[in-house]
Amino acid sequence: MTVRLLRKRLMRCISVFRRSLRLMNRKNNIILIGFMGSGKTTFGRWISTSHSMKFIDTDEYIEKKYNKLIKDIFRESGEEAFRNMETQAVRELADSSDNCVISVGGLPVRDINRRLLKELGIVVYLKTEVDELVKRLSKDTSRPLLAGGNLREKIESLMTAREALYKDAADVIVKTDGRRFEDMYADIVSAVNIGIMED
Ligand code: S3P
Repeated sequence: MTVRLLRKRLMRCISVFRRSLRLMNRKNNIILIGFMGSGKTTFGRWISTSHSMKFIDTDEYIEKKYNKLIKDIFRESGEEAFRNMETQAVRELADSSDNCVISVGGLPVRDINRRLLKELGIVVYLKTEVDELVKRLSKDTSRPLLAGGNLREKIESLMTAREALYKDAADVIVKTDGRRFEDMYADIVSAVNIGIMED
């Protein structure tokens, strides 16, 4: 074996070891992040039923807590107020959630939320291509950030602004286009060895 290959293997071991150490300090949750329409809620519900984990969606959590639809919160109080509610929600979940699968909306856009998410569990970025998102979201009327104007342009510009933030927040990146949930879940398990979380 060459010295270069040895060094490469050693570096890989160190990085796996470091990642394991980081993951050991996390709570026992799976956090799903990704663009609107990436399938966080559907995939989250699937994990919840097939792996006996409680499902929490931060949008539903906020809607219930404030007794208002997300689109009404945006219309009445604006995006900043909604982002404050998200930060508060993630803080509350850090105290109350265990062995849950948690779907979060645009939470990773804030620095503080990306830090809090890392404490909350293993963060999985569901990565979906723009063409697919345009198809999935073309009839949607529930997302205020995509309302009016050209849908593709809106998605592209938000994606350009957010992609690096999603990646920064993520422990695992899982591609979703044309894939079965079983395969997506297997990606998560093999990337972070969360089989042990299901004990
Ligand atoms: C948002 C995502 C939405 C919702 C809100 C803002 C975002 O959730 O929280 O419309 O900024 O990405 P979903 O991703 O579940 O649609």
